[in-house]
Amino acid sequence: MGSLKGLILAGGTGSRLRPITHTHAKQLVPVANKPVLFYGIEAIAAAGIDEIGIIIAPETGDAIRAAAGDGSRFGVRLTYILQDRPAGLAHAVLTAEPFLGSSAFVMYLGDNLLQGGITDLVGEFEANSPDALILLTPVADPQNYGVAELADAVEGATPRVVRLVEKPAQPASDLALVGVYMFTAAVHDAARALAPSARGELEITDAIQALVDGGARVEPHIVRGWWKDTGRVEDMLEANRLILDTLPGTVDGEVLDSQLEGRVTIEAGAVVEHSTVRGPVVIGAGSKLSHCYVGPYTAIGENCVLEHSELEHSILLAGASVANLDGRIESSLLGRDVRLSRSGRQPRAYRFVVGDNSDIAIP
Ligand code: DAU
Repeated sequence: MGSLKGLILAGGTGSRLRPITHTHAKQLVPVANKPVLFYGIEAIAAAGIDEIGIIIAPETGDAIRAAAGDGSRFGVRLTYILQDRPAGLAHAVLTAEPFLGSSAFVMYLGDNLLQGGITDLVGEFEANSPDALILLTPVADPQNYGVAELADAVEGATPRVVRLVEKPAQPASDLALVGVYMFTAAVHDAARALAPSARGELEITDAIQALVDGGARVEPHIVRGWWKDTGRVEDMLEANRLILDTLPGTVDGEVLDSQLEGRVTIEAGAVVEHSTVRGPVVIGAGSKLSHCYVGPYTAIGENCVLEHSELEHSILLAGASVANLDGRIESSLLGRDVRLSRSGRQPRAYRFVVGDNSDIAIP
């Protein structure tokens, strides 16, 4: 089958993360100050795969290309593959067929985060040589995912995949398809034979079902660690929390007359003064904080400015600024260069310049 390749899907529209994704690729939204996409590239690289194709969309492809570059910094070669419209995950595979050729490959959804990487999985695929290997995990809301129905799920026996349904109204199980798959080249013919689903996409879930129906060996693998599809704001915040929990905390920036508690990472060129920072927290390069309280599970991007403010359990993208607010900000996601301030001007009133689909809650 030749050596394995990687395929990361970083196209699509990102409608559920609006307004952040009106202007930015959802795969570049940072988790603990690192774009979600980079975790996927690193996981594939760590599994020993160094040829990776990245599916990009016309609207956000350039930004993704600029961020990830030629891959040398990850020790891999990146090839960008333009998908002209978001016609589905199986359509993305077909678009990548010239790159993939007859190789087996790991497909990784660019907005997914998987604890523990994929090295074991790649080993299992190479050892057992199934036609496809899918990852499953129990979730509370299976109707929002592809859902698998297994047979022989008894102690000792290897369960069999019976049926896969994309976002079923009445899920047959709570086992969601995780956005990491291993395929042989057999998936191309299965994808080619598909008709668009009810949401108008060529579904990878249907392609895998076609493999099962055709007698191919599709092995299920239940994920034990945590997994996050970062498609929604609350998922981003949770992913941020999970990753921040794994960071050791290092202070390379400047700290003046401040109290740091727990694991706090302050990147070079950042300045924290007259403040209390309670980790886990990461503060990006070039950011300036004065007279602030920053609470657990907060990631502040590069070049942010915070004055006389309190925030906790939040993600601030690069260049955001917050000044003199009365209350504490929490569970929030502030986009690039967003400015929140209290002016003290009369008449006392809220003054907003807020983009489409923004969400503001004031007590
Ligand atoms: O996250 C796991 C789920 O991912 C699975 O449980 C579902 O079975 C699977 O269909 C998929 O569902 P989503 O609706 O969450 O997929 P989404 O549209 O968010 O796309 C996933 C990634 O693939 C995302 O990074 C965007 C990219 N993409 C998406 C489409 C539709 C493409 O590159 N091209 C596309 O045409």
